[in-house]
Amino acid sequence: MSDVQQTLERIASASDLHALDAMRVEALGKSGWVTGLLKTLGQMSPEERQTRGPEIQAIRTQVTDAIAERKAALEAAELERKLATERLDLSLPAPERPQGSVHPVSQVMDELAEIFADLGFAVAEGPEIETDWYNFTALNMPESHPARAMHDTFYCEPRDGEPARVLRTHTSPVQIRAMQQHGAPLRLIAPGRVYRSDSDATHTPMFHQIEGVVIDRSIHMGHLKWTLETFLKAFFERDDVAIRLRPSYFPFTEPSAEVDVGWSTVKGRRVVGGQEGWMEVLGSGMVHPRVIAAAGLDPDEWQGFAFGTGVDRLAMLKYGMNDLRAFFDGDLRWLKHYGFNALAVPTLSAGVGA
Ligand code: PHE
Repeated sequence: MSDVQQTLERIASASDLHALDAMRVEALGKSGWVTGLLKTLGQMSPEERQTRGPEIQAIRTQVTDAIAERKAALEAAELERKLATERLDLSLPAPERPQGSVHPVSQVMDELAEIFADLGFAVAEGPEIETDWYNFTALNMPESHPARAMHDTFYCEPRDGEPARVLRTHTSPVQIRAMQQHGAPLRLIAPGRVYRSDSDATHTPMFHQIEGVVIDRSIHMGHLKWTLETFLKAFFERDDVAIRLRPSYFPFTEPSAEVDVGWSTVKGRRVVGGQEGWMEVLGSGMVHPRVIAAAGLDPDEWQGFAFGTGVDRLAMLKYGMNDLRAFFDGDLRWLKHYGFNALAVPTLSAGVGA
């Protein structure tokens, strides 16, 4: 039994987990000495087994318990040692994590909302799958109106008993929905996605527009012109932004005007501001009385102006991109180059009227 005592002592003073495990194998492993003792039981006479059996089992239990006890002690000591010696240096800079950026379309939409909020405009939204009535008919484009053909419309498969639907070709249907919902007076913008079956460097099947509409009792084209001028100056952050209204035609405005903005050349690039030449940026006009009536208001009492423009196009002009398709490719290199830092977005320095 002194053998056992010695083993127990060695276990109790094992210096580390590795040494302890070697002792476990030595005693309890397949060819360990305790295992050997257990094996002898089979060859014993029943009488002998009756006395030796419990003794051998007791040895096994003692050894097993001693190992478990030493193991727990060694592990606790190891933890103590780590707690005492290892430290987290909280002053080290954290590893850099990849950070997303704000897409130019989102950035420009935010800028537009900010500018028009300064001018007292609310923001409205409407559905992208729009009924034919809101997208066309209510906007003074009855069925078979030739202007419908200009829109390269995506038509939805008609469902029995339901009104015909299209992917909205412009944000103008929000004018109707807003007048129906809020009545007049009204002053709002409606940014959002629109769809046309068209694709090249300056056209994509989905793009973004922003609509503006003002309805009140004595609105005239002077208000329209001032609003657009003020908005474009704030957006392009230049005081020398000049605009020119050219007579045009939209079924939902009368009179209608296309709005050109003056540009000039800076470092070989065309930028907005100055008057070297003109480029078209907006469609606009006085809301047609039939449109006001279709939305349920009395056109003898209410009138107003509306305008619509491409958000992507505004972004291209302001931030110098030249291929619209890149906006929707999802190429991270492009976003890294043209995207905006979400935490340090350059907001408009002045806003309107500063
Ligand atoms: N909806 C027109 C378009 O998509 C733009 C527009 C809006 C024109 C409002 C006049 C008034 O081209």
